[in-house]
Amino acid sequence: MSETIKVSPLKSITGELAVPGDKSISHRAAILAGLSNGSCSVENFLSSEDCVNTLRGMAQLGVRFEVKKGTDDLPVDLVIHGCSGKLQAPAGELDCGNSGTGMRLLAGVLAAQRFDSTLIGDESLSGRPMDRIITPLAKMGAQFETRGVKPGCAPLQITGGELKPITYEMPMASAQVKSAILLAGLFASGTTTVIQPATNRDHTERLLSSFGVNVKTEGNTISIDGGQVVEACDLVVPGDISSAAFWIVAAACAPGSHLIIHNVGLNPTRTALLDVLLRMGAKIEVLLEHEDGGEPLGRIEITGGKLKGTEILKEEVPNLIDEVPILAVAGALAEGVMTIRNAAELRVKETDRIETTIRNLRLMGGEIEEFEDGMVITGGRTLKGAKLESYGDHRIAMAFAIAGLLANEGQTTIANTACVATSYPTFAHHLETFCQP
Ligand code: S3P
Repeated sequence: MSETIKVSPLKSITGELAVPGDKSISHRAAILAGLSNGSCSVENFLSSEDCVNTLRGMAQLGVRFEVKKGTDDLPVDLVIHGCSGKLQAPAGELDCGNSGTGMRLLAGVLAAQRFDSTLIGDESLSGRPMDRIITPLAKMGAQFETRGVKPGCAPLQITGGELKPITYEMPMASAQVKSAILLAGLFASGTTTVIQPATNRDHTERLLSSFGVNVKTEGNTISIDGGQVVEACDLVVPGDISSAAFWIVAAACAPGSHLIIHNVGLNPTRTALLDVLLRMGAKIEVLLEHEDGGEPLGRIEITGGKLKGTEILKEEVPNLIDEVPILAVAGALAEGVMTIRNAAELRVKETDRIETTIRNLRLMGGEIEEFEDGMVITGGRTLKGAKLESYGDHRIAMAFAIAGLLANEGQTTIANTACVATSYPTFAHHLETFCQP
């Protein structure tokens, strides 16, 4: 299980690549295609452990799928045969593995079913807060029992049933919470409204529209009428900008680099990383090419240079939340100070990413001050190779593999990197490609 990544400093990164399909969109495609009223072709599905677990969860609920490219364990192109919203009681527990998105979105759907179900996850997921979805879904009428070691954590036992609509003001800007409520709202008897404190990824709203479901968005208020038909449709999942982020930062921070990333999702609720890097002086060109499933996608071209620090704005945080570890690496290499605050949500990700990012960056020679809601990095340091841990967190593993490439001297070893397969199964292969002398 526990693999190791070893990297040595690289002068620059040159080439072209396409990253695998978007994780957030793949989860949602599996769920919505499964609920739809026909057969949906889904291409470029992210065949990672996280998304495959969601697909298997839907299969346990009676949804059939056929793999057209890839394998049953790692499907890339598939046809999902929707069950017209009529799910069956699962024979056993639904295992969401490492995925908070899988567990929270499936909980939204299961809250509305007239059968009991139980969602389980790995050690990391079993320590993540589920009360954030339990509170609104219980208000809608579902019953929950958490049987975890930590209060409010999985295993999550759900007794679903007829739901009533709610108007819910979310305490945090979470797309997972919003999506769980909207998916439950799809089955409720009336209009469900979610008010979010700040804009965050809107893939659920976009995909619901592509599946013919009317979702109304007015500023940060989103409403859905229950009882709508999810109309089957075909989708091509764009490349995941959160996976591309590792290479975008790698190329942007290394003078002499030139990298083109093709076919990457450019949804504006996911591209704050690019805005921050541009403010830091990065040379990045974005070419919007087309839309699929309501999602814009295109090409990102990066030319390496020297960056300067910046402050990440409060409203940017939800739109780059998964990119903070790799942005922190960019901050350590940039001239000046990089401030990342208002990001306490990082403490409840796959690991406490404030802690794990700081711990690794310090071991490489970075100077960082820790805050409850973020960090302030004094840049301009030369990073040196070090022996690091991923702590079982895929984004920490990949961010520090890139830090190792950008270090001035010494080899970097990251232990326990099998977790990379949860979101970017071909990362090691791409790393090898760029590390060829
Ligand atoms: C996701 C939402 C974000 C993000 C996660 C994927 C999604 O989590 O960190 O990787 O697909 O909805 P939160 O909703 O908890 O912020």
